[in-house]
Amino acid sequence: MNPNINLLQSYPFEKLAKLKQGCVLSTHLKAISLSLGEPQHVTPDLIVNSMNTALMHGLKKYPTTKGGEALRQSIAHWLVQRFKLPTSCLDPNKHILPVNGTREALFAFAQSVINQTASNPLVLMPNPFYQIYEGAALLAGAKPWFINCSEETNWEPDFDAVKEEVWKHCQLLYICSPNNPSGTILNISILKNLIECAEKYDFIIAADECYTEIYADETQPPIGLLQACAALGQMDFKRCVVFHSLSKRSNAPGLRSGFVAGDAEVIEQFLRYRTYHGCAMPLAVQSASIAAWGDESHVQQNRELYRKKFDAVMEILTPIMSVTRPPASFYLWPKTPIADDVFAQELFKQQNVTVLPGRFLSRTAHGTNPGQNRIRIALVASLEECVEAARRIRTFLT
Ligand SMILES: Cc1ncc(COP(=O)(O)O)c(C=O)c1O
Repeated sequence: MNPNINLLQSYPFEKLAKLKQGCVLSTHLKAISLSLGEPQHVTPDLIVNSMNTALMHGLKKYPTTKGGEALRQSIAHWLVQRFKLPTSCLDPNKHILPVNGTREALFAFAQSVINQTASNPLVLMPNPFYQIYEGAALLAGAKPWFINCSEETNWEPDFDAVKEEVWKHCQLLYICSPNNPSGTILNISILKNLIECAEKYDFIIAADECYTEIYADETQPPIGLLQACAALGQMDFKRCVVFHSLSKRSNAPGLRSGFVAGDAEVIEQFLRYRTYHGCAMPLAVQSASIAAWGDESHVQQNRELYRKKFDAVMEILTPIMSVTRPPASFYLWPKTPIADDVFAQELFKQQNVTVLPGRFLSRTAHGTNPGQNRIRIALVASLEECVEAARRIRTFLT
């Protein structure tokens, strides 16, 4: 067996299941789960209908790994509109590839980017982080290098703390903006600095932007990495690749649909890798995805629902917890007055509400663990359930 498999850590939800195992509930209250970032809003009809219509044509055709022209066109159109990119700089033939959700793509990307023969290949990533980045680095034969995010850095990765020696060995940098779990958005000057840094030390930036459509202020959508490239005049998106998904944007985590876009040379090599990996997007999923990328009204309604939940939940939690409303994402990342795992376990036992302990999303790095004494609350359930859960957290705390 590949020895690197043994380096993989158990997944946060395996740790959570273990934490809950054997717990005796001291309540008859109904279970509410706010641990998994799985959107529970209704999947729009236009997605389901397009999928059904496509399925009526049967399943007799193999899809291509590159995806159909119509899908790549619709993605290009969305990217240009959303990030105000010059139309001419984005070629759907060269810059875009469909993927079966960003999770598989974020993983596969490291496998095709990392040069294991170089000395000490490093993959830099924020801490706390989406655990796929770490597993991807390890299985690609590289070492994960954590850049801590904390309250002091406004939950942005502390890029200034990264020494030149580390940058020199960096082959791939994962960023996550808007961030899971903090909701922090990296601003344009940070993104521009990173692009310049990638050029100086010759590494690739993988920007996980799967929460970019879930934001608080309708007039201020989060900026993306390709937008920062364009602002710098780098219309070839050199060393930059973004990852987008319909899971959060369109309440379709079961569809498994997303895309990667950016540097044409990197995309070309990634396509080559994926051809062998065998991960073409089914044609019915492509049809549903075209419908989803072409419609904004369901996304606006989705954001509105999250706003209502944040309004209601913040009103209940702010007086009793140290909690900040994030500019984007559907997570709260409050401080806990006791150890995060004990908090989560006791909240479950006493109130039958499940949240994720912060340390299940982070590692101890450079002498500290940024997930310590934090929990992640995913406001994915219905408004009523989120409000009920917030009330139970209040009862638990008081
Ligand atoms: C930060 C982050 N990136 C990527 C993903 C994967 O999303 P999907 O594979 O559904 O596109 C998730 C899912 O929760 C996530 O939180």
